[in-house]
Amino acid sequence: MQNKMVIETAVREAGNDPIFKVSGLAKKRIAEIGKEKVINATLGALMDDDGNLVAFDSVYSVFRHLDDADYAAYAGIAGTPEFLDNVTYACFKHQKPDAHIRAVATPGGTGAVRHAIRNYADMGDRVLIPDWHWAPYGTIADENGREVTTFSLFSEDGGFNLDGYFEAFDGLLGEQKRVLSIINSPAHNPTGYSLTDDEWEAVKAYFTQKAEENPEYRIILLCDIAYIDFAGQDESARNFMKILTGMPENVLVLYAFSASKGYTMYGLRNGALLCAAPTEAIADEFAASCAFSNRGTWSNGTHAAMTTLAKIISDDDLRADFEAEQDKYRHILQARAKAFLDAAKDVGLDICPYVDGFFISIPCDHTEAVRDELMTKDFFIVALKKGLRFAPCAVSEEKCRKAPGLIKAAIEKVNG
Ligand SMILES: Cc1ncc(COP(=O)(O)O)c(C=O)c1O
Repeated sequence: MQNKMVIETAVREAGNDPIFKVSGLAKKRIAEIGKEKVINATLGALMDDDGNLVAFDSVYSVFRHLDDADYAAYAGIAGTPEFLDNVTYACFKHQKPDAHIRAVATPGGTGAVRHAIRNYADMGDRVLIPDWHWAPYGTIADENGREVTTFSLFSEDGGFNLDGYFEAFDGLLGEQKRVLSIINSPAHNPTGYSLTDDEWEAVKAYFTQKAEENPEYRIILLCDIAYIDFAGQDESARNFMKILTGMPENVLVLYAFSASKGYTMYGLRNGALLCAAPTEAIADEFAASCAFSNRGTWSNGTHAAMTTLAKIISDDDLRADFEAEQDKYRHILQARAKAFLDAAKDVGLDICPYVDGFFISIPCDHTEAVRDELMTKDFFIVALKKGLRFAPCAVSEEKCRKAPGLIKAAIEKVNG
């Protein structure tokens, strides 16, 4: 056997991203028989009904008219001052928590998750995430010498599994004294679940009780809000931000903000990690650690993307146009998801509790075999460990209506 040149912990399998593999097959099939005959529900990006990527006019009309220096110049390690001023509104809108808020620019939400794991979980520690989760959490933890551990996301009655969450949290507090937990809500990837305000109240009560029990505990919650602008109506999806305040000083709430979906800036790599800290000192510490992390990883982010977001948020007319366009697509997504949910009900297809967002999950066994069976019907879907992931963000309402019947038939064929 050939000697490895990479270090032991960096040995990786090549080209094993199943989502990109299946989406490649979908594209090939579209080239063969035309897009009308193919359902490509693999990708996590907003597509119009013809399968073209949506890029908001209200964003790119601003982006295209920047000064050359806005594209060319470094953005500064922590982000441009204009971006840092305006990303707070983009994150919280009018539901800004009564806390010490700081922001550090990152390349997308991925960068924000990275910094949270790097700076708030100890080397070798386990980060708490749900069993249904965005796979890169594990990748980022691994890449940084941390691990992930899971709890069951759903209770028997289809709500957030508070008991399971608290039990897992208790276990980690006992072992590590410091726990970083990531909750992706609202519009969770891959299920579309959003915690209710009552569930957030229960989480807050638990954190408060634990933090008071032992002042040495460090409780850090990272709210991954990558899909928040596609959730709820008006600002209802942000109610929880005001709930998660007023806890003891050994509880810290962080927010991973992403401009990828909400601003259709996927490839521009724009986002931020924000803290809603209980004290000024904890906020200062956050800003210093995360700026250092920027310097030590990607140095700084995409200047033109930061300037675009800052211009849109700080100008009443631009912001109104942008919010109207975002609203239009949120309604399109919600109509597509409803078509899928209604059809699922009609054919008796079991799905995970869905509230909002880019994805709907269907729990089932032998997921890869079911996915392969659906491929024979020119229907491309993602196979996860615990089920299938369907992407209404990428599929027309008409195809969303057709999909549940096909999925149900494929599950029955494979699983009997
Ligand atoms: C749950 C979740 N968190 C964070 C992200 C971060 O995305 P990006 O780095 O493109 O902003 C994504 C993107 O797919 C996601 O699904």
